[in-house]
Amino acid sequence: MNNHPPTIDRRHFLALAAAAAATAQARGARGAASSPSIQPAPTGDSHRGPCVIASGNGMETVELAFDLLTKGTRPVEACVRGVALVEDNPNDMSVGLGGLPNEEGIIELDSACMDGPLHKAGSVGALQNIKNPAAVALEVLRRTDHVMLVGEGALKFARRMGFKEQDLHTEKSRAAWARWRANLNPNDKWLDTDQIINFNEPAWQSSDAQGGGLSSPRFYSLPLATPEKGPRGRAGERVPSSSSLPRAPWGRAGEGVPSSSLPPHITRDSHGVLHTTGTIHCSATNANQDVGCCTTTSGLAWKLPGRVGDSPIIGAGLYCDNAVGSAGATGRGESVIQTVGSAWIISAMEGGMTPTEACLAACKRIVDRTREPRFFDDNNRPRFSVTYYAVRKDGAYGSASILKGGQAAVCAGGKAVRLQSEFLYE
Ligand code: GLY
Repeated sequence: MNNHPPTIDRRHFLALAAAAAATAQARGARGAASSPSIQPAPTGDSHRGPCVIASGNGMETVELAFDLLTKGTRPVEACVRGVALVEDNPNDMSVGLGGLPNEEGIIELDSACMDGPLHKAGSVGALQNIKNPAAVALEVLRRTDHVMLVGEGALKFARRMGFKEQDLHTEKSRAAWARWRANLNPNDKWLDTDQIINFNEPAWQSSDAQGGGLSSPRFYSLPLATPEKGPRGRAGERVPSSSSLPRAPWGRAGEGVPSSSLPPHITRDSHGVLHTTGTIHCSATNANQDVGCCTTTSGLAWKLPGRVGDSPIIGAGLYCDNAVGSAGATGRGESVIQTVGSAWIISAMEGGMTPTEACLAACKRIVDRTREPRFFDDNNRPRFSVTYYAVRKDGAYGSASILKGGQAAVCAGGKAVRLQSEFLYE
């Protein structure tokens, strides 16, 4: 059992926190002028001028969005058009087309965007069959008096706006769902992936075809008895029965995705099951210091149907204020919602923290407020992560994660650069 709240001993964090306090004091409330006695941190905090920041999967996104900014496109629209590149990419399994589905094998997408100059937002939650939910969210912002549409209503709205419905699954997303489903329950009747009969495999062919076949010793040496399957529920955790879940409409799929092809926000567990809290966030500030942002995702892989994460929730997965800047999140959405992360970052920057300091402090707020022992290992290290991204209206930018490994993509002209996010825990 862990003792909570956990202690954060990151030398880094203390140094930044001290710097933040000193900087805030030196700068006064709005943080416009920097004190000559305080050296800028070696991060994007010292940058000034138009700039776009996104999660690490948004290298092309920030380049397109920056290009659009320079041509006069409003920051919110530049972000929405930039993230569409990732929504359209079937190889990014955390967003749009090919995103990982819910426990029933259905892909439900969440997205929101916010415009700084109008201080107006649009959002869609649990949207099915439309690969560009961010563009739908932008239409909610532009054409309605509402902020958020969900489920069937969001789909109806998208149809009215002329968005094309399509099957969002790819071979890879189907295969990933089938592998997860097969590993759900040790006693279910779904064969594990390595037990599935593949008629093209020599071991399963007739003796005439392969000189061995079903009666050969090789066949009988295959693991016909159900081997150990997992991951299994922790003590006391309810494990859904196999009959409580419908079968995927496409039946059993083949092998999963090679690890080398996985982006950093998608992990593969010891049973080969993919998990993602991946998402793309994008924030921008232009030459007029107008800001805008957008976040889009397929959400937590294998979520309960109808689960809505932080990405479409204004103040959680994204927020902007034209007087201050713009921020957003990727990672475990429930933690971001329960700490109102992005809105908090904007307030922290308004109070004088730099973008990097505000992102790091927002990560610490999550850890400090996470009470359930299941979220920590024996060393009190969190088992989950969130990454924040922020840009101040003057162009200073930063990013931080709970766990090491977060990355941001930044473009301030020319090619995008990859920024390693600051972090609380190795
Ligand atoms: N941050 C993405 C999600 O939790 O849905």
